[in-house]
Amino acid sequence: MGLGSDMYRQQILDHYKNPRNYGELEDSDFEHVGENPLCGDTIKLFVKLADDDETIERVSFVGDGCAISQASASLLSTELRGKTLEEVQEMDREDVEELLGVDLTPMRVKCAVLAEKVAQDGAAIYVGDEEIDQTTTE
Ligand code: FES
Repeated sequence: MGLGSDMYRQQILDHYKNPRNYGELEDSDFEHVGENPLCGDTIKLFVKLADDDETIERVSFVGDGCAISQASASLLSTELRGKTLEEVQEMDREDVEELLGVDLTPMRVKCAVLAEKVAQDGAAIYVGDEEIDQTTTE
């Protein structure tokens, strides 16, 4: 599956089995759900902002999907805290690959970037300046 070193493989398995920040936030400022259209796997992200209305204070997710998609969501959830919505929107696929620490096959890239895409679409909708692409709002 195009995974790199054992160390990173362990990390992915660990995040898959013990996802960080898993669950729903009761007091989120926005939520967003996205789906990988190839397989139907989903990630729903909950974001609570700080008083400045742009810095992420807390983030959580729930989801259903393969190890890579769920581990990426878990890893991303630990990275997003403290970032501004603008910074989130500037993230790209390389940031996700760096986070995972593995080389991904084209099929697996879709799994890996699902959570990032959900975060970006959710942020864009919250700030009100972008269209949604292949994800649904709630
Ligand atoms: Fe569905 Fe990976 S196989 S997100």
